[in-house]
Amino acid sequence: MGANLARNFARNGFTVAVHNRSEGRTQELIAKHGAEGDFVPASSLADLVASLKRPRRILVMVKAGAPVDAVIEQLVPLLDDGDIIIDAGNSLYTDTRRREADLAAKGIHFVGVGVSGGEEGALHGPSIMPGGPRESYDSLGPMLEAIAADYEGTPCCAWIGTDGAGHFVKMVHNGIEYSDMQVIGESYHLLREVGGLEPAAQAEIFAGWNSTELASYLIEITAEVLAHTDAESGRPLVDVIVDAAGQKGTGRWTAISALELGAPITAITESVFARGISSLTGQREQAQQVLQGGTAPVPPGEGFVDDVRQALYAAKLVSYAQGLDMLREAGREYGWDLNLKDIASLWRAGCIIRADLLDEIMKAYESEPPANLLFAPAFAEAIGAAVPAWRRVVATAVSAGIPVPVMSSALAYYDALRAPRLPAALIQGQRDYFGAHTYQRVDKPGTFHTLWSEGRAEVEW
Ligand code: 6PG
Repeated sequence: MGANLARNFARNGFTVAVHNRSEGRTQELIAKHGAEGDFVPASSLADLVASLKRPRRILVMVKAGAPVDAVIEQLVPLLDDGDIIIDAGNSLYTDTRRREADLAAKGIHFVGVGVSGGEEGALHGPSIMPGGPRESYDSLGPMLEAIAADYEGTPCCAWIGTDGAGHFVKMVHNGIEYSDMQVIGESYHLLREVGGLEPAAQAEIFAGWNSTELASYLIEITAEVLAHTDAESGRPLVDVIVDAAGQKGTGRWTAISALELGAPITAITESVFARGISSLTGQREQAQQVLQGGTAPVPPGEGFVDDVRQALYAAKLVSYAQGLDMLREAGREYGWDLNLKDIASLWRAGCIIRADLLDEIMKAYESEPPANLLFAPAFAEAIGAAVPAWRRVVATAVSAGIPVPVMSSALAYYDALRAPRLPAALIQGQRDYFGAHTYQRVDKPGTFHTLWSEGRAEVEW
């Protein structure tokens, strides 16, 4: 990613000093791509810093965690007031807030930047989500916007908010990415196991869905992956890949942060757990011997494929609604003035979750921002129209024993939001019974407790 970002800057006319702790990597970049622009190889960090005019702008692209602190520690003695360190890796926003405060005390700006789009995006135009001091963006903005993806001429790069805001937004982007990928996987699994559709046939279906409201990068690449035949075995590649999903951590961080914020991102969190369950290979092998299926498959109706498309769309909408709701909550909690319309606009191109849907989401926040994305009239209508199919698909999956954690938890979220009464009333009663944790009443203000072991009279607390 770092090399491709350097190439992107060079291709856009910037002189780029490059350094990699493995000098061979630096030399390889210059040898292979030196003709693409003006590169200045640096064999050490001291050389790198010496080659930069002030205020120096140094973009660091290393693995999140201790490696970032290590590079900062090496750089600080070489820098002067006003210089800017940019962390473009997937760092945890709390680390970014800490680093920004520490460095500010030393007169150095620290800017955590979320960069999305993978290797190709880094080279041809990623979605860029910079945080850090507003004045740093005055210096960095033009160069970041020059290399960013653009949507109809608008760069997918804008200042997100102070300190760790950029990395937080990127983290939630990844949470939505996880959920998107999981619910696409659930759709594939249903079409395979219940619909009897082989990967090649499904590749055509997903390619067709890329011309519907599902149009997106992830749908596009899903069709590509499902169409691909493994050269060695001659089988569909998807059938020779071990079905245990990896995760570098951003989805997990999103789930942890949501629990801390009290943001109910049920679909996103289920997608993180689904990766975890897929990796329980030992337990899964044993479960196949020990656990009864008890399935009673309901034969899918002839409209099953389109039902799955509608269920996928509905669950996708819920994922975005939950992610954006979490961003709103984080803005309140961390003092960031997060503009959901602007954030959605940055995701319209360059990033992994780029989708036609995002232009509609941006428009939904243009006028009076809805309390929840699903309440925006266009989306309330769209998801309402999909609900019957969504219910049929989840019911079919449950009857057939096909796990659909995102599709089903998204439906549970939708139903919980719209339920006139929830069983939380009973939970409050239980809590009051064993812990005297009190409850409110629907018919009068105040806080109450029932004397469960002393005649059960109710007292006001
Ligand atoms: C992006 C991607 C990227 C992600 C890697 C691995 O926006 O370009 O989200 O940042 O970190 O693709 O992600 P996982 O290992 O967590 O799936």
